[in-house]
Amino acid sequence: MHLDFWHERWARNEIGFHEGTPNEQLQRHFHKLQLAANSWVFVPMCGKTNDIGWLLEQGYRVKGAELNEGAVLELFAHLGLTPTLTEHGSLKRYSAAAVEIYCGDIFALDQALLGHIDAVYDRAAIIALPDAMRQRYSQLLIDITEQAPQLLICYEFDKQKRQGPPFSVEHDELQSLYGGAYQFQRLERQILPSYLPDDVDATAVAWLLTASH
Ligand SMILES: C[S@@+](CC[C@H](N)C(=O)[O-])C[C@H]1O[C@@H](n2cnc3c(N)ncnc32)[C@H](O)[C@@H]1O
Repeated sequence: MHLDFWHERWARNEIGFHEGTPNEQLQRHFHKLQLAANSWVFVPMCGKTNDIGWLLEQGYRVKGAELNEGAVLELFAHLGLTPTLTEHGSLKRYSAAAVEIYCGDIFALDQALLGHIDAVYDRAAIIALPDAMRQRYSQLLIDITEQAPQLLICYEFDKQKRQGPPFSVEHDELQSLYGGAYQFQRLERQILPSYLPDDVDATAVAWLLTASH
């Protein structure tokens, strides 16, 4: 999928994925990662999500990655923070207080630049990527976070009724992408009637992934 696809969606404000309030499953389940205060949480492909503000309020520090610079600037404005900017190859890093966002293609990020991560919160990131990219993305996340545990929120729906993104990512696929690195615990299945465009029903599934070795 071309990066312009996402820039165009942001330019046209076609951001139905953006939730107005912190994600409910995040609030219900994040404590199950059992993180200490000040832990670093990585939020890949974060957009301008309100989930980052919620994580900060809980006493965590947040690193994120997002392609669209306008989204990153809106995120900081909404948090009431003025970031400083540094450049790292093709990536820009915006940072303020306990937040660092890498702006650019997530596939340009490496472990040395990202630094230590205690946990990953993936909501609508892996499911935003087409099949071949999900394979690359899952390996990237394992590598750059050194297999940090994850709270992963996926959406499942009838693939005949809707082409992605989002893509319906189910347990068998997660097992093939992450099964070599993680054990899975399904925390919740929440049925969301007419959640997707064209009245397509979806099920939000929250997974806890913990390193298997
Ligand atoms: C479906 S949205 C989810 C955003 C956020 N996680 C949320 O819950 O609101 C996917 C996001 O990934 C970003 N994105 C897409 N491809 C990317 C890439 N290669 N590197 C970094 N971000 C990317 C898009 O700009 C978009 O903001």
